[in-house]
Amino acid sequence: MKSRIIAISLIITVFVTMLLSSCSNNNTVNTNEIRIGITVYDEYDAFISLLLNSFMEDINKMNQDSENKITVYKYNASANQSTQNYQVSEMIQKGCDVICVNLVDRTDASTIIEMARKADTPIIFFNRELVAEDLKSWNKLYYVGGDASESGILQGDIVLEAISRNPGIDKNRDGKIQYVVLEGEAGHQDAIVRSESSVNRIIEGGIEIDKLEGSIANWKKSQAKSKMSEMIDKFGSDIELVLSNNDEMALGAIDEYDTRKVSPEERPLIVGIDGTDLGLNAVKNDKLYGTVYNDKEGQAKAMLELAVSLAKNGKPSDINLSQGIYIRLPYDIVTKENVNQFMNNGMEDTNGIS
Ligand code: GAL
Ligand code: CA
Repeated sequence: MKSRIIAISLIITVFVTMLLSSCSNNNTVNTNEIRIGITVYDEYDAFISLLLNSFMEDINKMNQDSENKITVYKYNASANQSTQNYQVSEMIQKGCDVICVNLVDRTDASTIIEMARKADTPIIFFNRELVAEDLKSWNKLYYVGGDASESGILQGDIVLEAISRNPGIDKNRDGKIQYVVLEGEAGHQDAIVRSESSVNRIIEGGIEIDKLEGSIANWKKSQAKSKMSEMIDKFGSDIELVLSNNDEMALGAIDEYDTRKVSPEERPLIVGIDGTDLGLNAVKNDKLYGTVYNDKEGQAKAMLELAVSLAKNGKPSDINLSQGIYIRLPYDIVTKENVNQFMNNGMEDTNGIS
């Protein structure tokens, strides 16, 4: 009887050992598979959808070239923070090695950070910047984006250059530039900071300016068109300059001037930020005076490199991060003179990580 028990327990031990070793074998086979999760605040935002396309293209390329297999879990939060929190928990459950988050509400990251910390899953936030305190609250949080004030300063430079070439922008010749601002979302770093730094740069450049009105249009062309319509009704040809926080809203303003059939000479100077495909087209066709290139290709590439490194090595390896957290890609001025460079995907190969 005793020997039968010993024999059975021996068989069980051998069986369990075989089972365990086959599991661990599976694990080693799977180590080359990387799972990346990504959730965006709104996939219908023009710039974000281009950034996401670029990210997906890079992953496809990487999957072709290397032996690594990257699986992506992609989500649209549809401008709802609770939806996004749920998506992150789902990505954690699916075993994502790293999760890229374009936060809906940049002041409300705590739930996501807590979930990530518990699961020990690194998070790369992008485009919608958290306050530094939140980013520093755990050592596996990162941020990829631009420097909002840089984009405003460069927009201001475009305006200064335009005025020095064409003093007639001051249509009523009162020595001041009367302007309106089309603002992105209330509370977004790229709205507040861009407006401020653009205006400050123009003043520093020795130009006197008069703000007629600022109007929030949430990055959207249609909202900007109707806001512009209200402002034209109010101020008419007194508007000499339209500073737009992004290209989509600048295109909305242009659309409104088109609808009203205002001649090119009578229109104000209009400037944007982003260099979206439509924005660049408008620069090329003399509808938009200039824009500031928001390097979506560079941001997508930096995000992917960081994600792969975190997934494989658990740390950023040889990637250069400022304060161990930030990757910021530089912006660039785009006017009619250099627009072709940007239209032919010129940024793709030339830009590195700053
Ligand atoms: C900005 C961009 C806007 C909008 C926004 C969304 O960087 O210029 O067009 O996409 O991000 O967070
Ligand atoms: Ca004037």
